Amino acid sequence: MKLVLVFMLAAIPIYCYASSSGCHAMDDVIAQTINSSVSVTEYQGVVKSYAPLPYDRKAVAKLKQCFLDQSEDTLNNVKVMVNAIYNSKDCPQSA
Ligand SMILES: *[C@@H]1O[C@H](CO)[C@@H](O)[C@H](O)[C@H]1NC(C)=O
Repeated sequence: MKLVLVFMLAAIPIYCYASSSGCHAMDDVIAQTINSSVSVTEYQGVVKSYAPLPYDRKAVAKLKQCFLDQSEDTLNNVKVMVNAIYNSKDCPQSA
């Protein structure tokens, strides 16, 4: 779980720069990832709408399932962590 999250967070900024919608894409994907009301199928649709490059649908399904298997507490902690990263002084975020 932790390793998967690290990979995901490492991949997202590249994806973010590649996207014309700026960091809205990153915020949305993270929100959908940690939202337990979003099904694997819905999540795949969200990722598909943003992905600039081919990706492994099964890997995306596994990633989402991994988050679906977590408690609401854990999902909320992921949100806290992501916000802490955004608010850290090394994060060059303008919006
Ligand atoms: C989670 O996803 C559902 C279904 O897409 C949506 O209605 C709800 O507003 C989302 N919740 C949050 C906190 O984003």
